[in-house]
Amino acid sequence: EKGGYKHFMLKEIYEQPDAVADTLRFGVEDMPSVFGMSGKQIKNIKKIQIIACGTAYHAGLCSKYFIEEYSGIPVEVDYASEYKYRFVPSTPGTLAIAVSQSGETADTIAAMKKAKEAGFKTLAICNVLGSTLTRMADHTFFTRCGLEISVASTKAFTSQLAALYGLAVFLGFQRGVLNSAQFKKYSTEFFALPRLLENTIKNTAEAVKKTAKKIYKEKTFVFLGRSANYPIALEGALKLKEISYLHAEGFPGGEIKHGPIAIIDSHVPVFVLAPKDNLFEKMLSACEETAARGAKVIAVTDKKGAEILGKKVFALVKIPEANSFLTAILNAVVVQFFAYYIADLRKCEIDQPRNLAKSVTVE
Ligand code: BG6
Repeated sequence: EKGGYKHFMLKEIYEQPDAVADTLRFGVEDMPSVFGMSGKQIKNIKKIQIIACGTAYHAGLCSKYFIEEYSGIPVEVDYASEYKYRFVPSTPGTLAIAVSQSGETADTIAAMKKAKEAGFKTLAICNVLGSTLTRMADHTFFTRCGLEISVASTKAFTSQLAALYGLAVFLGFQRGVLNSAQFKKYSTEFFALPRLLENTIKNTAEAVKKTAKKIYKEKTFVFLGRSANYPIALEGALKLKEISYLHAEGFPGGEIKHGPIAIIDSHVPVFVLAPKDNLFEKMLSACEETAARGAKVIAVTDKKGAEILGKKVFALVKIPEANSFLTAILNAVVVQFFAYYIADLRKCEIDQPRNLAKSVTVE
């Protein structure tokens, strides 16, 4: 059942190009029905409220960057467990989006209930049709990534990101923020995601494994990213915590100098997500600042970024060139590989980490 892979997690990492291709098995013309919104409904959206837990929360946080830029709609992202117990202004025209692999996470269900009580329109992005969440929501976008067995979520995460990216492009076009040419460009890139993911897997697995061998004995790891890559840094740290029980933290690249840099020394490897985009120079400084404190810097970048970072860093992992937002989805694969190989070298129970359950059905 593991199809020759040592763990389900590794199998599911490799399944991502197919999982995302299945999730995106629709055409541009089908978008209104897959996202369940008419042009008029879309024009009336004033705010998007995303609610989710764990890895699904990181998908939501990442999507804030592209939904806001492409559609102009303000996006707020909350941990479901926080949303449930905080004061929420009942802003008219709010669309609440719950993101969940299982559709059975009690915190997310409770938050969804609150959103419904506030009178918000609701959309579930979910991998299990017929789950509690999908029965509550006005509409469901089904991530067709298949059964995910490993407790640590991988293919569900990239499928959620793909769904949210598609939603961003669709909303942007419907609201007239993106013109036809931009819509065409972004949707073409979007539908090419499976191929980009395949190339990412092909080009990064060995490099990550080799690097993991050099640093797996360390006890603290830092992940840095900016914009849509910041939540991927958070996800990289979460994955490492979940399956290797190591101390890992994710920060926005620009924030490290405001405190976290104090923990950096030669025993804290720093994983820098630095595609060659408008924030590359900033990430380059993050590499230099942490390297100056002795950190082994592992930079994840593309061909153009590698030409500049080449000799400045401890290790390089090269992803295919893509638009800045899509690099976040590709980098998700790289941080998954990294957590996987570290945990494997440390002989951890990868598919069934201690203290964790695949789906937490109590609040
Ligand atoms: C956690 C799982 O308890 O729930 C995580 O261990 C998961 O892997 C999170 O991301 C949310 O689960 P779901 O099913 O709502 O996406």
